[in-house]
Amino acid sequence: MKPDQAAHNYRLYIETVGCQMNMLDSELVVAALRKQGYQLTADIAEADTILFNTCSVREHAEHKIYSALGRLKHSRSRRPDQVIGVIGCMAQKDQQLIFQKAPHVDLVVGTGQLAQIPELVAQSRADREKRVAVSLDRRDATRQQVSDSFQSYDPLRDPEMRPSPFQAFVRIMIGCDKFCTYCVVPMTRGPEQSRPPKDVLQEATRLAGEGVREITLLGQTVNSYKYTVDGRIWRLSDLLESLSGVAGIERIKFVTNFPRDMTDDLLQAVRDLPKVARYLHVPVQSGCNDQLKRMKRGYTVEEYREMMARIRATVPGCAVSSDFIVGFCGESDESFQKSADLLRECRFKNSFIFKYSPRPGTKADELFADDVPEEVKRRRNNELLAIQNAISEEDNVALIGREFEILVEGLSKTAKKEQLDDPRVGGTIQENTGTCDDHPQLVGRTRCDRIVVFEGNPRLVGSLVDVHVTDCTQTTLIGSIVTREFQHTGSDLLPILA
Ligand code: SAH
Ligand code: SF4
Ligand code: F3S
Repeated sequence: MKPDQAAHNYRLYIETVGCQMNMLDSELVVAALRKQGYQLTADIAEADTILFNTCSVREHAEHKIYSALGRLKHSRSRRPDQVIGVIGCMAQKDQQLIFQKAPHVDLVVGTGQLAQIPELVAQSRADREKRVAVSLDRRDATRQQVSDSFQSYDPLRDPEMRPSPFQAFVRIMIGCDKFCTYCVVPMTRGPEQSRPPKDVLQEATRLAGEGVREITLLGQTVNSYKYTVDGRIWRLSDLLESLSGVAGIERIKFVTNFPRDMTDDLLQAVRDLPKVARYLHVPVQSGCNDQLKRMKRGYTVEEYREMMARIRATVPGCAVSSDFIVGFCGESDESFQKSADLLRECRFKNSFIFKYSPRPGTKADELFADDVPEEVKRRRNNELLAIQNAISEEDNVALIGREFEILVEGLSKTAKKEQLDDPRVGGTIQENTGTCDDHPQLVGRTRCDRIVVFEGNPRLVGSLVDVHVTDCTQTTLIGSIVTREFQHTGSDLLPILA
């Protein structure tokens, strides 16, 4: 059957949870549906196509989706033509179980079948049959067969669909082969597969042509990237070097790194390539060797420390951030304290801290008891957060008085809220053309990924400006744009800041 031909009237509502990989997937799915004439709506009651792009990494993320699905139980009676789809990681993991828990769902589409969504939605609307499109289970077939069943989804973008006109995610690999014992990702995203360098370069070049200035390379273990072309192995460092040659791209970031694959060639690339962010997200998960072993992370605390020392020695001033899991099976007070000590020692820019959530189908769930009470998990979570916040604040205070080159991302949260509340603006984003006193608060990031807010003309969004830091909070630097003399821009003479 042809994809939805009369789709021009259809309204799509999409909700996305999970990581940046999911944000990119949603962007691409929306772009594909928009090409067919679908229009996005933020009002679920108005939608005839409802998609949930899901995450299974913690139980909470799944609950959120099942509750949202529960609220739609009677929605079909009001809208008989409605199609409800569950896509992404939970679709791959739960498959038929989703229909049992939410019988009003029409479509279940895994991470490896996203390209089929327009067709599946159209078919489902036409014949009202339920459909499941998922990849093979890793235990049920050979690696090659499973890999083939997880297709990387990187179609052409719809320039209007990017979250910001000058920032874009670029997938460089899918899947994960590390099999940390607590984690569902190797199941939901399949075997690790790197994209050919030429495809990545082509995509980046096209994005640059559309005005993108910052790309973030995505992979579950992005620094494990490896692709052989004509006998030559391309690693992430090679890719960064080639991408640095793409005119128009000013900043290149990459997430998430795996500690064991933090090789010297990569650190040297971060040091030597001016467009590459001096920022590395390298989750440690725990500061206790017994826990790391039970997690099957493949490194010891000593090895992580050695990696940190190499980062500090090779790339001075590089910001490093981390993830921690608290309350993993068997975590005693003593082992938790080792995580707290390691955090104090490494002084991460920021850390994402998660309470262990047992995931059916993982080794940890099979082998170990979830023996840390919820209350203790919560306490440890808060304790680590407090330590991290104090470090972030101290490190931010030390930056007061310094100047940084900022890529301006947009209006700050406060400015956006003020705009929404302002009856003169009526909720639409308008360029501020008033005097300097009217300039809203903008937000951007340093090359080390630190968030900075400052007042400035919204015209600066997407450009690089120098900001002098005057104050800070735990999470944010506060500053003012360094006023330069008049700068020539085309035929106009514009003050760069105001
Ligand atoms: N690929 C990335 C991150 C994947 S998931 C990496 O390996 O670093 C993001 C984070 O979620 C992980 O770093 C881990 O801290 C956390 N996480 C994963 N599974 C979890 C679980 N079962 N319970 C709690 N946190 C979990
Ligand atoms: Fe999960 Fe570990 Fe792979 Fe990260 S490296 S996605 S935590 S299995
Ligand atoms: Fe979640 Fe899937 Fe990402 S499980 S963290 S959305 S890869």
